[in-house]
Amino acid sequence: VTPYAVIRKKRDGGRLSRSEMKEFFGAFLRDEVADYQVSALLMAIFLRGMDDAELGHLVGVMLESGAVLDLGTVPGVKVDKHSTGGVGDKVSLVLAPLVSACGVPVPMMSGRGLGHTGGTVDKLESIPGFRIGLDLEAFRRQLERIGCALITQTPEIAPLDRRLYALRDVTGTVESIPLIASSIMSKKLAEGIDALVLDVKVGSGAFLPERAAAEQLARTMIAIGAAHGRRVTALLTAMDRPLGHAIGNALEVEEAVELLRGAGPADVRELTLGLAAEMLVLGRAADDRAAGLVLAGAALDDGRALETMARVIEAQGGNPGVLDDPAVLPQAPVRHVLESDRDGIVTSMDVRAIGLAAVALGAGRTRADSTVDPAVGLHLTLRPGDRVARGEPVGTVHAREEEAARRAAAAVLAAVEISDRAATPLPLVLGRLA
Ligand code: URA
Repeated sequence: VTPYAVIRKKRDGGRLSRSEMKEFFGAFLRDEVADYQVSALLMAIFLRGMDDAELGHLVGVMLESGAVLDLGTVPGVKVDKHSTGGVGDKVSLVLAPLVSACGVPVPMMSGRGLGHTGGTVDKLESIPGFRIGLDLEAFRRQLERIGCALITQTPEIAPLDRRLYALRDVTGTVESIPLIASSIMSKKLAEGIDALVLDVKVGSGAFLPERAAAEQLARTMIAIGAAHGRRVTALLTAMDRPLGHAIGNALEVEEAVELLRGAGPADVRELTLGLAAEMLVLGRAADDRAAGLVLAGAALDDGRALETMARVIEAQGGNPGVLDDPAVLPQAPVRHVLESDRDGIVTSMDVRAIGLAAVALGAGRTRADSTVDPAVGLHLTLRPGDRVARGEPVGTVHAREEEAARRAAAAVLAAVEISDRAATPLPLVLGRLA
């Protein structure tokens, strides 16, 4: 079959076979199929969807495009967490050392920021010296020694996803359930984990804002996991407001350290403990979620999670002083106080627009090759339901230059609806699927 025939078949609602996809994408990886042809196929998939069998073939082809890790020498049930992408979501920085401190190994491979969302790897890189690019042997050794390693997806893992994502990002084909599910699950299945907890976001800052779509995405990923013998649990969680207060890499590390020290915003703590409880159950360290919550709460409050994070940072070349003194982190020269421009109740927040305001400051990428400024970002204390007065400080913009700070401040205020109406914020955890 020619690439042209594959594209037409999908365009007209046909179902692609495994061999058709293997041939098409294999040729793409060898640069024998053009980017514009792949983009056309992605759009056809976006518009037509995929049935379960077809999606299974796509996951298989993506998984087999690279290496599949064997972490058999690391004792215990290895559990990772993956979020579908959010704004201000620094949970992984606390969750990975926390769960590992409770005895469950966490081999965490994370991504960089995508679109309006932040990425754990960018956050970790704001810690001076921290190496996110361990080779697979060093990754395995650190897991054996400390039970936790936080690295970036290595080039060996699902290279087809990397190539496809770069095209999806610029062709309006990100927000598709089969494409998101195959992208996430092919990478996670390649990592050598035994079980996975998914944090599927719902609300204006999620790639799929509607609850029904998020739920379908969660079910799709759980089914892919089951087909590959992995236990997967998903929480549907609120992204109709940023998580915590800090948005931006070093700012989020600072907030994560507050959490590891037993303080920090209540929502980040609650979500971290909820996800930890799920991971501890999957990792057989707790009999049920209630027991998992108790275990995780104790390890956060008695400093064991903090101690594990110190070992991880040290092992990966970072300055563990960051855990004692946030001044070790890069600091932005300009601080611009955000003031509410109206009296009223915060009715809703356009979290995607807020994430994009942080990206525009330099906290994320506008092109695949742009560099991230670790110091810039936002600190926002506003939440849907809050009553605010005109002129009241509601946050701070951390910027390189005054002009950028002013632009970000205007964008954030435009993204917050303040009115006389009551707000109906989503509950932090909307549901659980397994
Ligand atoms: N995260 C991913 O890894 N892939 C997607 O497609 C969306 C979010």
